[in-house]
Amino acid sequence: MNTQVAIIGGGPAGLLLSRLLQLNGVDNVVLERRSRDYVLSRIRAGVLEQGLVDLLQEADVHKRLKAEGEVHAGFDIAFHGEVCHLDLAELSDGKTVTVYGQTEVTRDLYDALDAAEATVIHEAENVALHDLDTDNPRVTFELNGQTQQLSATFIAGCDGFHGPSRQAIPASVREEYELTYPFGWLGILSETPPVGEELIYAGHESGFALCSMRSRKLSRYYVQCPSDDDVADWSDDRFWEELKSRLPTADANALVTGPSIEKSIAPLRSYVCEPMSWNRLFLAGDAAHIVPPTGAKGLNLAASDVHYLSRAFIDYFNKGGESLLRDYSKTALSRVWKAERFSWWMTRLLHCFPKQNNFEKNLQSAEFDYLQSSHAAKVALAENYVGLHY
Ligand code: APR
Ligand code: PHB
Repeated sequence: MNTQVAIIGGGPAGLLLSRLLQLNGVDNVVLERRSRDYVLSRIRAGVLEQGLVDLLQEADVHKRLKAEGEVHAGFDIAFHGEVCHLDLAELSDGKTVTVYGQTEVTRDLYDALDAAEATVIHEAENVALHDLDTDNPRVTFELNGQTQQLSATFIAGCDGFHGPSRQAIPASVREEYELTYPFGWLGILSETPPVGEELIYAGHESGFALCSMRSRKLSRYYVQCPSDDDVADWSDDRFWEELKSRLPTADANALVTGPSIEKSIAPLRSYVCEPMSWNRLFLAGDAAHIVPPTGAKGLNLAASDVHYLSRAFIDYFNKGGESLLRDYSKTALSRVWKAERFSWWMTRLLHCFPKQNNFEKNLQSAEFDYLQSSHAAKVALAENYVGLHY
């Protein structure tokens, strides 16, 4: 098999890249390790920056998003019971975010790719990258027990944090930057109406909490927990009690509880791999970087990578331009580091760090006081939350 761009990984980054290339006449094949049902059963964050909404419109996969997505013009940050409201629209010249599940974005992309008869190969096992430093890179994989080969002009590594693409860059070239956090997020999904119209991020002395939603009938809640906690030790009752204790009183009183339909613990990590390209290989999304979920930048950052990378491939194949591909890593990393900074900052502001001393605790309080009292601080937070320009 031959193609122009071999895309490894059929998560949001790989599927969106495939769709944008296909609309611009660039031939591509997506290789995904899992089944489609598995990919569509993963629950991920659901706050979309305007840039991603625009990109989904460009990809012509925005109709359901426009009908069902909820535009949010603000959110609350609470700290030890005090509430600071961020009016995103007022602070950022009318910009907003849209609440729409990542799983739904993925489903819309599959539907569009199906309609266009794009090639997305599921359950491709033992995907391996070869000859990246030649003009003829290849990917080998196994499908139904048969070894297959895909030759391409370029390979896009969109295979998430655990995929093989990043590892194909020689260790002597790769620089990895990492921070791990001494806690995780326990998240639940429940068929209950959200506690409010907008999201609530809460810092409390016993840990962080977040009230989010997927729709008017489906809520998503999180509490900070030790990273080695076992989800089996968290009954629904224990979860709701803990959540309530960390929310401002008015929100705790308004909370509607019910049985959870999903419950899991996720670790928090900040990670960047540099460079994001090597010879004929280009990384995008979680394959190259991870952010902690505070601020919901993971999907949005994958989208800005795909924006830069799709333009670079389209320019190469349709106009013979090489400069966008040559500069891809530098261009993408400049935005990646700003999103890393913001996610790290918001994580530090709102979480309880086990070894934090009193000096650090007072800095955290001062940070929140400053945010509450300074218009400039609110503008800076809003500018980052709605998404930096790309
Ligand atoms: N071969 C083929 N596909 C693979 C392999 C492999 N060896 N390893 C992983 N994959 C697939 C995964 O099954 C997954 O479907 O690559 C895909 C990567 O998707 P994501 O992990 O969703 O990453 P990405 O597309 O970069 O999206 C970033 O999604 O994971 C969230 O927090 C993340 O919100 C962010 C966004
Ligand atoms: C979510 O809805 O899952 C969500 C929302 C905002 C975040 C993280 C997760 O910052």
